[in-house]
Amino acid sequence: MSSTVWPYPKTIAHRGAGKLAPENTLAAIRHGVALGYRATEIDVKLSGDGVSLLMHDDGVNRTTNGRGFVANKSWRELASLDAGAWHSAAFTGEPIPTYGNVVAYCRANDVLLNTEIKPSTGRERETGAAVALETQLLFSDAAIKPLLSSFSTDALIAARDAAPDLPRAHLFKNPLPDDWLARCKQVDAVALDANWLTLTERIVQTAHDNGLAVACYTCNDLAAAEKLWAWGVDSIITDAVDVIAFRR
Ligand code: G3P
Ligand code: MG
Repeated sequence: MSSTVWPYPKTIAHRGAGKLAPENTLAAIRHGVALGYRATEIDVKLSGDGVSLLMHDDGVNRTTNGRGFVANKSWRELASLDAGAWHSAAFTGEPIPTYGNVVAYCRANDVLLNTEIKPSTGRERETGAAVALETQLLFSDAAIKPLLSSFSTDALIAARDAAPDLPRAHLFKNPLPDDWLARCKQVDAVALDANWLTLTERIVQTAHDNGLAVACYTCNDLAAAEKLWAWGVDSIITDAVDVIAFRR
């Protein structure tokens, strides 16, 4: 895929600013922006009462001061949690943001989004449809829409059925499954989104030959990133926003 039809930059911050700030918070995205990043990947799932919010894990234990599962809590409960103190004292009091909060910030600050649909276990279709519909609404007048991605084929199918015009990427873990191309086609993806360690020049070429762009996560080494770009990888998702300078 040529860069003229792939509107996303060569570098995308992972979870806002990788590990430099509490992942998937507005503070993290602002930190990435302060370092020059104008694109970020985020993980989006639903509260028990259907509010879309940023969180990687099914549970809140690792990244907040709460206990339990996101899917078992209302947005009101989740909004009262501290999602910053676990990282470092400087971020104490940082809240879990809603997807809407983050979209408002990103649109106001020219930050592009790669919205990873990260469903709580068992809520794949519901989350795919809800996140796609909300994205469509929030970006109806935007020139560049978020790239929706997911490891869940079911979530991506639901996203496609809800908002067919939004671009989608199929995420895969390492190793890349043999049927990666068929699964990308199954969800009408515009891109393969692979673990960078699983990529080869030949895979990148095969994706491009089939009209797919290639994104990869989570590459934190500049020399490795340079090799991936030389192979034709379109975007790398990185934690190392302080080491790998933002590139359009
Ligand atoms: O979207 C790329 C990457 O974030 C996928 O892995 O576990 O960090 O969400 P994970
Ligand atoms: Mg992610």
